[in-house]
Amino acid sequence: ATRWAEAFARELPPVQDDGGLEACRRCGLWQAATQAVPGEGPAGAALMLVGEQPGDQEDLAGRAFVGPAGQLLDRAMKEAGIERTECYVTNAVKHFKFTPRGKRRIHQSPDAGEIEHCRWWLTKEIATVRPRLIVALGATAGRSLLRRPVAVMRERGAVLATGSDYRVVLTVHPSFLLRLPDAERKAAEYERFVADLRLAAAAAA
Ligand code: URA
Repeated sequence: ATRWAEAFARELPPVQDDGGLEACRRCGLWQAATQAVPGEGPAGAALMLVGEQPGDQEDLAGRAFVGPAGQLLDRAMKEAGIERTECYVTNAVKHFKFTPRGKRRIHQSPDAGEIEHCRWWLTKEIATVRPRLIVALGATAGRSLLRRPVAVMRERGAVLATGSDYRVVLTVHPSFLLRLPDAERKAAEYERFVADLRLAAAAAA
């Protein structure tokens, strides 16, 4: 785990309900996952970032965005002038969804029902942190925050109003960038991603 995660886990305790997030049985994803992964960051953070769900490494570590996607996110945030330790970073879905293949666990996207059930936790985090702006990293986070299916490539790059008291900047998920095979396209998409983060930081200031 990275140092920022340890430092900021102390500032804001994980969201609690009867038994807390770890005891959540709102959907079936808890059964195969190692543990629920809460968000981390200071209460009162101006900027919140929401990913899809914990990946393989996050599931084992119990911390959001500590694997390869998290490292890319770290780099892009730095480039956008955003201090990760000042942000609240979480996921739309708190358990890792996967299918086993040999020794590997292959990521599966959460379905609409799982996103809906887990929004209960995300809503609690938003109410606690009260961010000025939320970055939705990818379609799952976008769907959860905007409460409708989203078209990331069409709706990105703008500050979106929602029916709730937060605004959203929708952008791609860092895993999308990791998967791009073409180096030139990857570089261009990375720059667009950094530009979206800059826009979000400016809107949250
Ligand atoms: N992908 C996500 O959406 N969230 C994580 O925490 C890690 C990878």
